[in-house]
Amino acid sequence: MTHQEIDQLVKTWIVDSAIRPANPRVQAIVLRLVSDLCKAMEDLDIQPSEFWTGLDYLTNAGKANELGLLTPGLGLERFMDIRADEAEARAGITGGTPRTIEGPLYVAGAPESKGFARLDDGTESEQGEVLFMQGTVFDAQGKPLPGAKVEVWHANLLGNYSFFDQTQSPFNLRRTIITDAAGRYQFQTIMPKGYGCPPGGSTAKLLDLLGRHGQRPAHIHFFVSAEGQRKLTTQINIDGDEYLWDDFAFASREGLVPAIVRVSDPAALDAKGLAKPFASIDFDFHLHQDVAAAPSAEVERPRAAA
Ligand SMILES: [Fe+2]
Repeated sequence: MTHQEIDQLVKTWIVDSAIRPANPRVQAIVLRLVSDLCKAMEDLDIQPSEFWTGLDYLTNAGKANELGLLTPGLGLERFMDIRADEAEARAGITGGTPRTIEGPLYVAGAPESKGFARLDDGTESEQGEVLFMQGTVFDAQGKPLPGAKVEVWHANLLGNYSFFDQTQSPFNLRRTIITDAAGRYQFQTIMPKGYGCPPGGSTAKLLDLLGRHGQRPAHIHFFVSAEGQRKLTTQINIDGDEYLWDDFAFASREGLVPAIVRVSDPAALDAKGLAKPFASIDFDFHLHQDVAAAPSAEVERPRAAA
């Protein structure tokens, strides 16, 4: 069939068959997606066995809760960021701390504290390098934002996230820090390690067929929000990681790889109450004022909560 014939045929299925008013947005999206799928089936001569294999794949990926991992793996979450950047640029919003993908592993309800939090529960203190990260949350004019909310989460040394990994204590490596009167935040944690897609899982299987790896560089996730400001969803990457610019989720961006300072001065260790050297990262967040001209920076999606 020609693409035009497919468009006409799919319209009879999705639009002309309606017997009551449709949701126009849903109708337009489904019409487009089904038409595009039929065109792909025609152009690529997709056989029924291949179609059912694909459907079974998606069914299993859904059952295994891996669709949220497949989405960044195929670049789609990065694509939504690119579109968000473009929409902001059209509304005159440029610069500031770059956004990058949320990923599927945020959990709402983390303990909240003012100014400082320790993220780790101490179980990996022996094996891990202690990390202090600190900075200021600014508005677009460079004014510090007291009372801003810095939500932070990252993986443990095995590359696993608490809540999804039930062997970890509740909210391990997850906290919400409210900036102090000077707009500053600081946390102590352990330096995260990179991780890969679950071996043998749906995402890994497809990446394997595509000849790709499923590894991420070590990183720390953030939501940063403040009254009247656009919510920032971002991550920092740990400099020196072998996958720093080869992330299967395409989340690495210029401006999100802060320098790491290694501190071994005895006086500095004493001040922190530490017996071994630690790492320190300074990183400021620069937010934008919310404007009506740009789409909401608050992305609605189902998220875990504990
Ligand atoms: Fe992550």
